[in-house]
Formats: sequence, C-alpha cells, structure tokens
Amino acid sequence: MTDRDPGYPAGQRDAVYRVIAERRDVRQGFRPDPVPADVLGRVLTAAHQAPSVGFSQPWDFIVITDLARRERIAALARRNRDEFAAGLPGARARSFDSLKIESITDTPVNIVVSCDRTRGGRHTLGRHTQPRTADFSSVLAVANLWLAARAEGLGVGWVSFFDERELAAELGLPAHLEVIAYLCVGYVRQFASEPELATAGWARRRPLSWAVHAEEYGHRGLPGEEAVDPLTEVIAAIAPLDADAMTAARERQDRMTKPRGSLGVLEEVSVQLAGLAGRCPPPLPEPACVAVFAADHGVHAQGVTPWPQEVTAQMVANFLAGGAVVNTFAAQVGAEVTVVDIGVAAELEPVPGLLPRKIAMGTADFTEGPAMTRDQAVAALTAGIEIARDLVAAGNRCLVTGDMGIANTTASAALICAFTGADPAEATGRGTGIDAAMYARKIEVVCRGLARHRPDPADPVGVLAAFGGFEHAALAGFILGAAALRVPVILDGVIAGAAALAAVALAPDAIAACVAGHRSAEPGHAVTLSYLGLRPLVDLGLRLGEGTGAVLALPLVQSAARALRDVATFDSAGVADKT
Ligand SMILES: Cc1cc2nc3c(=O)[nH]c(=O)nc-3n(C[C@H](O)[C@H](O)[C@H](O)COP(=O)(O)O)c2cc1C
Repeated sequence: MTDRDPGYPAGQRDAVYRVIAERRDVRQGFRPDPVPADVLGRVLTAAHQAPSVGFSQPWDFIVITDLARRERIAALARRNRDEFAAGLPGARARSFDSLKIESITDTPVNIVVSCDRTRGGRHTLGRHTQPRTADFSSVLAVANLWLAARAEGLGVGWVSFFDERELAAELGLPAHLEVIAYLCVGYVRQFASEPELATAGWARRRPLSWAVHAEEYGHRGLPGEEAVDPLTEVIAAIAPLDADAMTAARERQDRMTKPRGSLGVLEEVSVQLAGLAGRCPPPLPEPACVAVFAADHGVHAQGVTPWPQEVTAQMVANFLAGGAVVNTFAAQVGAEVTVVDIGVAAELEPVPGLLPRKIAMGTADFTEGPAMTRDQAVAALTAGIEIARDLVAAGNRCLVTGDMGIANTTASAALICAFTGADPAEATGRGTGIDAAMYARKIEVVCRGLARHRPDPADPVGVLAAFGGFEHAALAGFILGAAALRVPVILDGVIAGAAALAAVALAPDAIAACVAGHRSAEPGHAVTLSYLGLRPLVDLGLRLGEGTGAVLALPLVQSAARALRDVATFDSAGVADKT
C-alpha cells in the first residue's frame, strides 16, 4: 500500500465542502449593514489568489458603494430585464415576473470583476492557444470571492442583465477591459439551502450521474460504478403509474363540486397525471416546451411526396423565425418552441432556439437498405433522452412532441406496420396531400421496405434503424426521457405515434407518461392510437405535424390538472352532495 496524503484534517476538509455546498446566489433578504473594510479585504484577497492562465492575473476589482451610481446601473439592468421578459413564452413570463434578478441597490457594496485579455503580453502560457482562458481566469476569481464571502456570512448575487459595453462605459473601464461579473455583496438574514431558481421551480439540479463520463463522452458512470448508457438507464427507470396517487385522484374527483364523472376524459387525464407524479394533486403541467425534431429521409427519392426535400431546412428556418403554425399555437398557449436538427440534409446556421444534434445529413433510402445504422439509431434515441432531460432540468413540467421532415409520413407508415402488423394500405396516408398515383406508389414503397427488412418488432432499435427517421428515433428517446422523469409528454400526430410505438416497445410502461394530443387525419395514426390504447383529446382533422395538434391539447391537460388541484370539494364548499 502506498502512503496517501490524508489531506486536511477531517473537520477542516468538511469546512471546505461545506462552504462549496452552502454557497448561494443571493437576491433577497439582504441587510443594510455595511461590510467592514477588513472583511472586504479578506474576500478580495481570496479572489486575487485564483488560478489564472500563464499566471496572468487578468482581473481587476471595481468596488462600488456610491448610491447614485448604483441607481444608474440598476436602471440599465431593469431595461435589460424588461427586454428579456418581453421575449418569454406566457407561462415562463408569469413565473419570471415573480423572480428577483438583482439586488444592486439593496446591498451596500457592488464589486465588478473585469478581465484584461492582453495582460502578460503575447507569450502568456496557455492563452496563445485558447484566448478564452483569460475570461475563465477572471471567473475563477469570482468563484473564490463567492466562496470566501459565504464563509464570512456575506451573500453575493451575480447580475448579468447588462449590455456589457454600456456597463463598461458607466464604470469608466478602458476599452481593453471586459466586464466579467457584476456582484452585489452584503450581509443576509439567512442563506437558502437550495438555489432560489430551484425553489421557484424555474430550473432543477441535474444529477451528477448525467454529468460524469468514463473515458469518453457518452459513457455515463460515477467513479466506482458501472458505466451505463442513458438508454439503458431510462429503460430501467421507467415504472407504471402510482396506484395510490391514482386512487387519491379518483376519490378527489368524486368529492369535487360537480356531478361524478362529468369532466369525462379530463378526469382520466387528471388521474394519469397524479399517477405519473406519484402524488395528488400532481404539479400543474407548466411551463411546457414543444421540441420540434427535424430530419430528412432517403426514401424521399422514391417520389412519395410532391414537396422538395429542401422544405425541411426551410421550415426549420421558419420555426426559428417564429413564422410557422406551431409558433403561433405555442404563443397562444404560452409554450416554448425549441427546434432540434437531428438530421436535416443541410448545414444549419447556429441560432438561439436551435439545438444542433445532427446524426447525419438525412437517412438512407429504406427501399435500398437500412435507413440508418443501429449505432445511429441509438445515438438519435440518446439525443432525444438528453433533450428531454435538459428541458426538464430547465424547469419544464410538460413536454410536447413536434416534428418536421419531408417524407416522414412514409417512414411513419413503415414503422407503424412493423410494430403493429397493420397492412400498408391501412397505415399509409396521403401525408401533405398527394394524388392517386403517388399514393399507390407510397403504399408500394412501404410494402417493398417491409419485404426487404422483415422487421422484428421485438427488436425496436432494429426497426428504427430499418425505416428510420432520425426524428422518429429521437422522439422515441424524448418520450422515454419524459417517462423516466415522470413528466407528461403530449404526443402530436402520426410521426409521434410511430415514435411512441418504438418507445413502448423498448419500455412498455413509457405509455404512463403519454397523452395523445389529437388524432390526425393520417389513417396510420388511428391504427397507432388504438394499438397503444390512447384516446386523443382533440380531433379536428389536422394533418400538419410540427406539434400543432399536441400544442392545442396542452390547455386541456393543464385544465385537467388545475381542476383536480383547485376545485372545491362538497365538504370544503358546504355544497350538498347528491343523495
Ligand atoms: C455567469 C452567471 C451569471 C448569473 N447571472 C445572474 C443574474 O443576472 N441574475 C440572477 O438573479 N442570478 C444570476 N446568476 C445566479 C444563478 O442564477 C445561480 O448561480 C444559479 O441559480 C444557481 O444557484 P446558486 O448559485 O444559489 O447555487 C448568475 C450566475 C452565474 C454563474
């Protein structure tokens, strides 16, 4: 055995971990007491001991106490806050309203940490290859300051609602200095045990196991534990609805001030939500986020749609610009829209709102070979799982499926036939609207694909790989991710339905999280819904995709949950029950 340095004595080591665990970003409950110069000096000394690239120490600390200056700076932050709020979807905007994001004038001292990216000259070790390391170094000074402040009983709140140059001008910063952090510092009445944004339900902490990878990205595994891939992990985590919570929900429905059963299907939805959450009443399914998974399809070459393939990428641009139907419906119901490039056959510019997760430039033609490899199918499933996890960690309590992919009703028909055994003539629809000749060809293409691949529904990854649609595989992962986190997922039409078949084939209890938003006009969708035993909430003859039908169902799902939570009972309202 080698002699290990035992590190600090246990009590001191605990203090280090304690200060790390108990450091909080503080925005409320500051006391007006001044911060003594010696305390401030110790905190700044800690900041100044931070590591820095090439020992360049690129930081400066501007200590601000003047109230008039702080009021001017607070006005800058308020303006930026209002601009940010104006761009939020409804449910987020309501919860953002109640959040405090700065304490510029409530704290006695503000400290600005800046960065000089030129300090140390051109040969600064390390910075020559990675210029950003200058900024990282100043951030580490912030971290030291934040931790030392906690040990001194001082709260720190970081404000980033600034136009950086506007703030730099107010501080008289020379042009070669950048503002890295604006910190509000003061004594507090108490430190919260959890991040305020977690308590407010704005975002959640990601489990450590999602963040630690063994050897290579993607091999999730905590030290000392077996590496486990997200697909295996979510499949193992998915469980049926909680029977006790469902019973409690049914009992409450029966005591609510309304005739028993009078909310029809919405009562069943509320019972499902309670069973999924494992408590009654369940949390309201808001905020909600629609993830529109976009990809292209090799089978397009078979002439199964009159639309050119480029339309997929063009529609992605339209979603990102806010001009598609799903954007307007989402705005109406206060949901966020996020767009995922899971396999669009074009290079897409990085823009806010687009998640770049391209597996390949579209799938291969499934009449000629598998649409994708098994590895690609697993990669797309995993991407879907991770997107569900990220959206839930970002505070969403309801996920909504969306899709875009010219020719994806053809791939959906093949998947539906493979999983349900349906006849291609029964499961294939007219998609965007095609003439009789093209429709006949589309059915024939599905038949040829099925004959070629002889899919085994007991091998869902194999079925996905055969007929593809990167968006189908990713949506299946998205559904599995939601089910593992016990968050409801509202399914859109036939594409989501085909993906749900794959998800349920992988983990039968994933159905517990699924709500069928609507029934699309595509015949394969009706086949899918009855196979899955799902009852659609809306039936308006829609056949657009994008998530539109599911988004329309969102207020119904939310109303079902709100009724279960808020409607008075006969006893509480003093209303006589039926005798
Ligand atoms: C780079 C950075 C910028 C931040 N900007 C703001 C901000 O403008 N307003 C705010 O209220 N909190 C801001 N925060 C604080 C975070 O919201 C907070 O650190 C996070 O919710 C985690 O909570 P905790 O620090 O208490 O663990 C910022 C934090 C960091 C690291």
